Amino acid sequence: MSRPSVLVTRVIPDSVRERLASACDIDVYTGATAIPRDQLKARLTDKQALMCLLTDRIDADVLDAAPGLRIVANIAVGFDNIDLSAARARAIVVTNTPDVLTEATADLTWGLLLAVMRRIPEGERLLRRGEWKGWALDFLLGSDLRHKQLGIVGFGRIGRAVAARAGGFGMRVIYATLDADAPGFDSTSAYTRATVDEVLATSDVISLHVPLTDETRHLINRRTLATMKRGACLINTSRGPVVDEDALAWALRDGVIAGAGLDVYEREPVVHRALLELDNVVLAPHIGSATVETRTAMADLAARNVLAVLAGQPPLTPIVAG
Ligand code: GLV
Repeated sequence: MSRPSVLVTRVIPDSVRERLASACDIDVYTGATAIPRDQLKARLTDKQALMCLLTDRIDADVLDAAPGLRIVANIAVGFDNIDLSAARARAIVVTNTPDVLTEATADLTWGLLLAVMRRIPEGERLLRRGEWKGWALDFLLGSDLRHKQLGIVGFGRIGRAVAARAGGFGMRVIYATLDADAPGFDSTSAYTRATVDEVLATSDVISLHVPLTDETRHLINRRTLATMKRGACLINTSRGPVVDEDALAWALRDGVIAGAGLDVYEREPVVHRALLELDNVVLAPHIGSATVETRTAMADLAARNVLAVLAGQPPLTPIVAG
């Protein structure tokens, strides 16, 4: 019997490749940017499995190009790049990579938070331009974190890991879940549960940790920005379209809020021109999970999902169980 074959849309670590090679033939796209759509469809025709990235749009058209496809394993925790109902209709399993990237993403969130509050990138730009005149009492003053309120919108794995780091900085945590039935912490918890509106209106730093859905698209817009404190900073390491970038640029330019730290954008890799020109926003190139250990673990989890499904076993981390 011939071995199943998997298309992998980006180079993966050798250890993951070896794991896959134990049971499959592997076709790896080696280009430096996302696989072109025509190649994706052409190379999928004879495949039973696909390991893909959040930059690959997997819709009904792509799935129809692969009549033998049994699993789409996204190497990401987010899965808004995949048409889940199209997969469900074709009984194709869809998996993501939760847990393994939680801590790295929470770390990056705090990196952005510190960078914005303490104006580190702004200072570095100034220094590299040769404009630093030396220590001064009133030079490049940021804000203390201690005694400030961190408001977390979306309290899943990553939101909770971000909250767990707040104690070390002396920040108190308030959080909101979009799903009113989601379990919170018990009454002994140090964290306070509130509505999204309350979190936005009362927090000094607001960090977004929701998936991109119809409900969360442009959750942060002119109206919601206007309810925030004038000194507030917004951090987004979730998905770009959760924030209306036109509205954010307006709010940062007009002092409606004080600052922002972004790792994700509405039209990646394009960044809103107005944001590029503002000093009070820190811009990272979607690197929330970008550590050697975490990216290896993500690729490995995707590979283990592929191997499980091809062996007729249940997927480890299903979004669509097939
Ligand atoms: C990264 O953004 C991911 O969803 O894993």
